Amino acid sequence: MKMSPHPNIQEIALAVEAAGADALVMINSFGPCMGIDVETGLPHMGSQTGYGWLSGRAIKALAVRCIFDAARVVKIPIFGVGGVASGRDAAELLMAGASAVQICTEAILKGPSVYGKIAGELNDFLDSHGYAAVRDIIGLTVRKMRDRSVRTFAVPPVVDPARCIGCGNCVRSCPYQAIRLQEKVAVIDSVECFGCGLCISRCPVQAIGFPKA
Ligand SMILES: Cc1cc2nc3c(=O)[nH]c(=O)nc-3n(C[C@H](O)[C@H](O)[C@H](O)COP(=O)(O)O)c2cc1C
Ligand code: SF4
Ligand code: SF4
Repeated sequence: MKMSPHPNIQEIALAVEAAGADALVMINSFGPCMGIDVETGLPHMGSQTGYGWLSGRAIKALAVRCIFDAARVVKIPIFGVGGVASGRDAAELLMAGASAVQICTEAILKGPSVYGKIAGELNDFLDSHGYAAVRDIIGLTVRKMRDRSVRTFAVPPVVDPARCIGCGNCVRSCPYQAIRLQEKVAVIDSVECFGCGLCISRCPVQAIGFPKA
């Protein structure tokens, strides 16, 4: 069953499984969307309405989230699709819980040779990271996140000064101005910090993390 992205994908995936689907393919393109060529004032899309559906790189994060959510509740296999343009992208969808990966937009943009190229890149990724086979990474993130509970209170992250390279990404990105550089090392003001975790996502060297429970 081919699935469109949806905020409540778990409920839909469970209903589709209960109705007898053998497998899920997720996600379809997202839309309708629209873009306008400001030189002409006309839509970019050649369709009569001017609408189009978003696909490719722009929807990869949406695909990963949908696959991850569905994989946690259904038993049938999931074919992941959405924004795959490299072997690392394919690995991401597999880690989210897909058993196989499909590619549409990248082949439209660059031609059918992308399939072999991406399969080769996935193979290289597995080899360079010590994985024996694709099955080793299927659902890896689901397993790793299984015991992570959701907090309802703010916890400031901590900086590992030995890892911090003083790039300042976290300082620029913190919406609460709760980080400053002190002698080229990030320092978090735990009173100002809202615990949003944005700085953790922005650090290029994994120098920031939430304290271990
Ligand atoms: C031009 C185009 C036509 C598509 N037609 C269909 C279709 O007929 N049926 C379908 O299930 N999905 C269709 N899709 C969605 C793709 O199969 C895929 O689910 C989506 O584009 C996300 O993958 P991608 O980022 O690799 O393109 C189409 C996508 C594109 C770009
Ligand atoms: S967790 Fe959020 S508020 Fe706290 S320091 Fe990081 S970016 Fe700023
Ligand atoms: S983003 Fe990471 S490396 Fe850069 S200053 Fe902040 S903690 Fe240090």
